[in-house]
Amino acid sequence: MRLRAIGEWSEDPLWARIYPHLVEHPVLGAPLWRLGLGTDLSRLEAAAAEIGDLPDGARVLDVPAGGGIALRGLRPGAHVDLVAADISPRMLERTAAAAVRLGVRDQVTTSLADVGRLPFPDDTFDLVVSFTGLHVFPDPHRAIDEMVRVLRPGATISGSALFADDFRGLERRYRLVHAAGRAGRVLGPMCSSADAAAWLAAAGARDVRVEMSGGIGWFRAVKGLPA
Ligand SMILES: C[S@@+](CC[C@H](N)C(=O)[O-])C[C@H]1O[C@@H](n2cnc3c(N)ncnc32)[C@H](O)[C@@H]1O
Repeated sequence: MRLRAIGEWSEDPLWARIYPHLVEHPVLGAPLWRLGLGTDLSRLEAAAAEIGDLPDGARVLDVPAGGGIALRGLRPGAHVDLVAADISPRMLERTAAAAVRLGVRDQVTTSLADVGRLPFPDDTFDLVVSFTGLHVFPDPHRAIDEMVRVLRPGATISGSALFADDFRGLERRYRLVHAAGRAGRVLGPMCSSADAAAWLAAAGARDVRVEMSGGIGWFRAVKGLPA
C-alpha cells in the first residue's frame, strides 16, 4: 500500500500514524503540546480519568477514538462498557491494541462509524467523550447534534477541540496551524467555541461550559431532561 503524507483520516495518511505518538509519548508529548498548542497535555488524561469514576455497567462513547487515548481512563477489572468509534479502520486497530496493552480489552468495543451518522439509538450513553475531534470533523454542528442525541438525559458530554477563536495575540500562530491542517486535509472547516456552545445548547444540552487553554478549548455540558 502506498503511504500518503497527507489526506483524509480514513485513508490512514502519515499524519494519522504520527498523531497518536504525540499524545502518548511520555517524554516528547507534553513539551510538543505546550510548544505547538500552548496547552497542557495532562488535561487530556485528567478529562479521560472521568471514565474511571463511572459505576459498573455504565456505557461510554468515545468518538473519535483515534489511538485510544481515552482508554487510559478505564480501570482494569471494572465493568464499564466503552464504545470506541472512529471513521478510520486503522485507528480502531490502534485503539484495540491500546485496550490490550492497558488490560481493559474486555471493556472496549470498537465501532467503525462516522460521527455525523452514529449507529446508536437515542439516549444510549452515560457519558460521551470527544477529544481533539470537532476540528477534524467535516460537519462539527452535525457531530454535536449526533453526540448529544445518543447521550442519556442527565448525562455529560465532555471533550476538547482546536477552535477557530481569536486567541489573545496568538491568533496569527494558530491561523497558520489551521491553514496548514486544512491544506493537508487533516482539519475540517472548524468552528468557534461560541458556535460549539450554541450548538450544544440547541441540541438540548445545558450547563454548557467551554474553557480555552492555548489553542485548545475544553467543553462540557449535560443533556437536559425531557420537559
Ligand atoms: C486528532 S485525532 C483524535 C483522536 C483521539 N480522540 C485523541 O485525542 O487522541 C482525530 C480522529 O478523528 C477521526 N475522524 C475524522 N473524521 C471522523 C468522522 N467523520 N467520524 C469519526 N471519526 C473521525 C480520525 O480518524 C482520527 O482518529
